[in-house]
Amino acid sequence: MSAPKDVPVYPANIYSEHAIVDPYPHYTRLRAHGPLVWLSRHRVYALPRFTECKAVLRDDKAFVSGGGVALNPITNRLSRGTTLTSDGPEHDQRRKLVAHRMLPRALRAISDNVDRLAADVVDAAVARGTVDGVADLASTLPHAVVPDLVGWPRDARGDLLRWGAATFDVLGPLNKQAIKSAAASLQMLRFAKRVVGRRGVIEGSMAHELLVAADSGKLSHAECAPLMIDYIAPSLDTTISAISSALYLFATHPQQWRMLKDDRSLLNNAVNEVVRYEAPVRAFARHASRDTEIAGVRIPAGARVLVMYASANRDEREWDDPDTFDIRRDANRHLGFGQGAHACAGQGLARLETSAMLQALLDRVDRIELAGEPTWALNNIIRRHERLPLELIP
Ligand code: HEM
Repeated sequence: MSAPKDVPVYPANIYSEHAIVDPYPHYTRLRAHGPLVWLSRHRVYALPRFTECKAVLRDDKAFVSGGGVALNPITNRLSRGTTLTSDGPEHDQRRKLVAHRMLPRALRAISDNVDRLAADVVDAAVARGTVDGVADLASTLPHAVVPDLVGWPRDARGDLLRWGAATFDVLGPLNKQAIKSAAASLQMLRFAKRVVGRRGVIEGSMAHELLVAADSGKLSHAECAPLMIDYIAPSLDTTISAISSALYLFATHPQQWRMLKDDRSLLNNAVNEVVRYEAPVRAFARHASRDTEIAGVRIPAGARVLVMYASANRDEREWDDPDTFDIRRDANRHLGFGQGAHACAGQGLARLETSAMLQALLDRVDRIELAGEPTWALNNIIRRHERLPLELIP
């Protein structure tokens, strides 16, 4: 697609290593350029502001996911057949197949177990004193909860985190990052196909239920592996990001931690504010299904638009003082979990895990302090810490 004439152009690479680690100055400049900005480097219309992101996410007829939500055509071709990348009745049907497992009633049934796990993890961390907030705290619940729910074999979880991260990475532009991750992402799909083929999933799990539905002709057996990946891949790094960002933000904003300790009714707000402030998912794309317009600008059929959740969540037009982390703010309307038909199907679970970890910490820890310089993981889609040295003071 050639550069549009009536849209401001932003030539910088917002997926360079430098921009991945420090994206917010780019987002601020993009929002200042206008509601719609042409990223010449990536040949896509960017939506850096809240109002247009929300409008496009809600108009899933004009802005479809079926052509893929990645910024490169290879992943878009390979990722067909998932909930994330389908539209209309096909999408509704896929979502219905597993939605009941994510409803509040189903989550209530596992919440005691999640609380117990969180308590054990935090007890062990407090006993050590100095820990890595990512490996020792944030990764443990996501790694334990969803794989069981989905039915991923218990003896084959060693690669899950790496595969999950790679499956996000390949949704970016075709840069060094995406190319490096391609093999691991394909391995995950191949492995899921093998597990489904030999019916090696956990009895009574979501994948088991999908296989039974396939046996009775409700879906094809070929759809089972992508649907398994559909739930397991987005459940790991995203929630690890939310939990580790919460740890970092409370370590660097001790007065906010004190406020939460004094008033636990702020916990829901706190989780929303973490996901607003450090959106775990940077951005996904959509395709225009027909000639349409955004903010009065004509968008031709077939054009790609980039919905920038993380920038929308810091839009000064929508939020007072958006670069301040404040758990008293009502951040419920943030776009960190998306919006509309494709809004995160696992957000109840992500909230449950993040809240359980914070509750366990609030019960046991007086202060969280940084014990070294944190580093950021390099990933085209996910913003999360790689290492987060912390001291937990009981
Ligand atoms: C803090 C944690 C999480 C964040 C920030 C997050 C974020 C998102 C976002 C932004 C979308 C929208 C995609 C779009 O607009 O195209 C999404 C979709 C989705 N998420 Fe999450 N997610 C999280 C946790 C989870 C978990 C734990 C699961 C599974 C148990 C999950 C499963 C899904 C699925 C299946 C979709 C696709 C929904 C659809 O296309 O209808 N996510 N997530």
